[in-house]
Amino acid sequence: MSSPVSVRTMTLFLALFSQSVSGKECVCELKSLQRPFPMEKLDSIHTEVNKCTKSITSTQMEDDGDLYGAVSLRIIELELAEIMELLGKLKNTINTHKQLSQSTETQELEEFDLSQVVSKQRENQRMKRDLDKCQEELNSTSEPPTARPRHCPQGQLVDVKGPKTYALTQYGTSYAYGAWGKDPKPAPGKENTYWLVALTSSNAFANYVRHYSSLSTILVGVGPVDTVIASSNPTTNTIIGPNVVQYGDALYYGCYNSPSVCRFNISERSVTNTPLPHNSGFNNKFPFGHLGGTYVYTDLDFSTDESGVWVVYTAPENFGNVILSEVMEGSPLSLGRTWQTSLHKRTATNTFMACGVLYATRFLDKETEEIFYSFDTETMQERYDLKINIKKMQTNIQSLNYNPRDRMLYAYSDAYIVSYDAVFQLTGNYPI
Ligand SMILES: *[C@@H]1O[C@H](CO)[C@@H](O)[C@H](O)[C@H]1NC(C)=O
Ligand SMILES: *[C@@H]1O[C@H](CO)[C@@H](O)[C@H](O)[C@H]1NC(C)=O
Repeated sequence: MSSPVSVRTMTLFLALFSQSVSGKECVCELKSLQRPFPMEKLDSIHTEVNKCTKSITSTQMEDDGDLYGAVSLRIIELELAEIMELLGKLKNTINTHKQLSQSTETQELEEFDLSQVVSKQRENQRMKRDLDKCQEELNSTSEPPTARPRHCPQGQLVDVKGPKTYALTQYGTSYAYGAWGKDPKPAPGKENTYWLVALTSSNAFANYVRHYSSLSTILVGVGPVDTVIASSNPTTNTIIGPNVVQYGDALYYGCYNSPSVCRFNISERSVTNTPLPHNSGFNNKFPFGHLGGTYVYTDLDFSTDESGVWVVYTAPENFGNVILSEVMEGSPLSLGRTWQTSLHKRTATNTFMACGVLYATRFLDKETEEIFYSFDTETMQERYDLKINIKKMQTNIQSLNYNPRDRMLYAYSDAYIVSYDAVFQLTGNYPI
């Protein structure tokens, strides 16, 4: 294959219809493909990619240990795997589309519908529905911040599949504590970027965030770009604890030596902070843990979901049980609504949010972490009977976060970065 098919080009094919809520108006944009989709061409690309993967795999077997060559091949291999996956999805979409048009073709009325009145009408109805939905979203987003919109078409978390990827970071086994992921609300042009924060001092502190241009490069550990928060480590407003997230091109984390939430604006390279409620634990007072010990400096745990950023912490007033607060995105940085739960923080190893529901994990054994607890911020319902297992590659998971864009869980596990697919299901008794 002479030049790799650009991932962006293919996602463009899929973006036939898009809508957006911008400022105060609703815009629905219809982009139509001028020509029928070249299915034969796609098939031949598919075959070529298959051949290419096979030949690369066999070339790699013959590779006599040239490290740079091996690394490049590994990147190409990973990128090809990504392309294959996209091609598969594209093919499915096209097939569905084909079936849809075939079934409509049989409709009697349309055979005589030379002026395409019926299809135009249907298109209009669809646009109208989308506009209504858009209007609804606009209405709900313009409400005061006490009601964050929830969009949970996917239903309830029922399973975690994988690992889907598993790799050591570029640091090797040096840093056992850290976090990684993909910004759910990326800055333009940074849609494929992955971030990595390793606690490079005392398993507790970090003063920079590392970015990679793609999944392949972070897995292989090449071409990082570092953005420094402060020149020393640790110091005022640098990172303490592993449970960091990136959202809207900003890093959210616990501020060094202070019971506060810090936000580092990556493009502006500036830090702002906001205090947690009075008496909230920091500096290893209320960490996560299990029978075998605690995870140091995990007083604050940040999460992202469909509606934004959240923080989990605790205070003596809630007997060391988990408290959950919304982190409001605007300026100045502030906390929104707060919920007190009955989950003792020390019995959990991690928490994450998905669709306004808080999930907590516990240590079952070296091979398995279990999602056992959930708290729904909408219904206030708490459950301790979830039995969703996460297959571990290493003994401990220092950080775990959900990305609502790709519906994946990102874990940092004893210096390894691991990702999983979160599987959701619509069930009758679950409010969506
Ligand atoms: C949105 O709000 C406007 C003005 O309050 C109202 O007229 C309209 O019906 C609302 N639309 C939806 C879909 O709720
Ligand atoms: C970061 O700074 C830029 C430039 O001042 C600003 O436009 C953006 O809203 C800031 N982001 C956050 C999350 O505050």
